[in-house]
Amino acid sequence: MRAVAVSAFRAEPALIQLPKPEPEPGGVRVKIEYAALNPSDWQTADGALEGLAPHVFPLVIGVDYAGRVDMIGSGDNRFRVGDQVFGRVTESPVGAGTYCEYVSVPQDSAITLIPCGLSPRTAAALPSAGMAAAQILDTAVLRGHESLLIIGAAGGVGSCLTQLASARDLRVLAVVRGDEQRRMKALGAAVTIDTTARPLEAAVREVSAGGVDALVDLVSGTPEAFAVHAALVRDGGVAVTTRGVAGGAAVPPGVGAIDFRLEPTPVLLDVLAAGAVEGVLQVPIDVELPLEKAPQALDRNRTGGARGKTLFVLRPTRQGKGRARTR
Ligand SMILES: NC(=O)c1ccc[n+]([C@@H]2O[C@H](COP(=O)([O-])OP(=O)(O)OC[C@H]3O[C@@H](n4cnc5c(N)ncnc54)[C@H](OP(=O)(O)O)[C@@H]3O)[C@@H](O)[C@H]2O)c1
Repeated sequence: MRAVAVSAFRAEPALIQLPKPEPEPGGVRVKIEYAALNPSDWQTADGALEGLAPHVFPLVIGVDYAGRVDMIGSGDNRFRVGDQVFGRVTESPVGAGTYCEYVSVPQDSAITLIPCGLSPRTAAALPSAGMAAAQILDTAVLRGHESLLIIGAAGGVGSCLTQLASARDLRVLAVVRGDEQRRMKALGAAVTIDTTARPLEAAVREVSAGGVDALVDLVSGTPEAFAVHAALVRDGGVAVTTRGVAGGAAVPPGVGAIDFRLEPTPVLLDVLAAGAVEGVLQVPIDVELPLEKAPQALDRNRTGGARGKTLFVLRPTRQGKGRARTR
């Protein structure tokens, strides 16, 4: 099968041929139709989980997928051949990824049926970004009427978080780079702050003089940069990072700092899929590309600029046909 993989940490991703995996006992093999890009894909290929989890090489990149069950492992199974499914692979081992034609996954991992009314392409875009957004809201114990500052709001997690937060009556201050006011307003943001047009601190203080109730920082890669943003949170508020930089950050003493870590579950996938079917959650898809373009797409994501999700098309379905464009 075709796969996009790296031969070692920090090596160039390349299209290679690998044998199809066999399903494990109690597992299923999925023929992938769409895989979605997440920044964790290139971060993992760069060694972000080195020493923290077992890895296999060549390391097939990617975690999110949608497709059809094409083989069942031995033993009882809750899936059947032909089921349309989507999910996020586990990180054990890292390297049995989804930028490929077939993936073997345990039936009790974050995999579930695609419900009626949800296309495989939308389903593939949902797992990491949608689950992270939903769990961040629970981690920060945000219930409603609070103000939430999101740094990096135009990307995959930020787009989902803006919608889920505003649906809970949170006042979202969406921080972006560029003229994204219309798009962010349509997703539910109360205020959009373009940091290429004005300084962040002045813009936040103008609308939230005493500081915001909560911060979700999706972009700062150092404790120092995170601390600068956490200083915009009021005393007693909470500052969440998805970049693992809360430890050692000089966050104001009255602000709770949280290193968020996603814990994927099939139940959460079902909840998000239902939200997408009902139209409560729009999953913005930025671009669809053939698998061969994955190395270039990963490079582009490193430099920012995401406006929703990038999808790789493994086997176009009717919904996908005609909508794919290349860059
Ligand atoms: N810890 C976890 O379990 C977990 C789970 C999910 C995601 N994450 C991490 O969270 C981060 C965000 O994920 P994602 O899927 O949303 O990524 P994404 O889709 O690539 O979006 C990132 C967004 O941030 C914007 N951005 C970058 N620098 C910015 C700045 N200084 N000010 C405002 N916006 C800025 C980018 O656009 P511009 O470049 O145009 O500004 C882009 O829209 C990634 O690093 C990911 O690995 C961690």
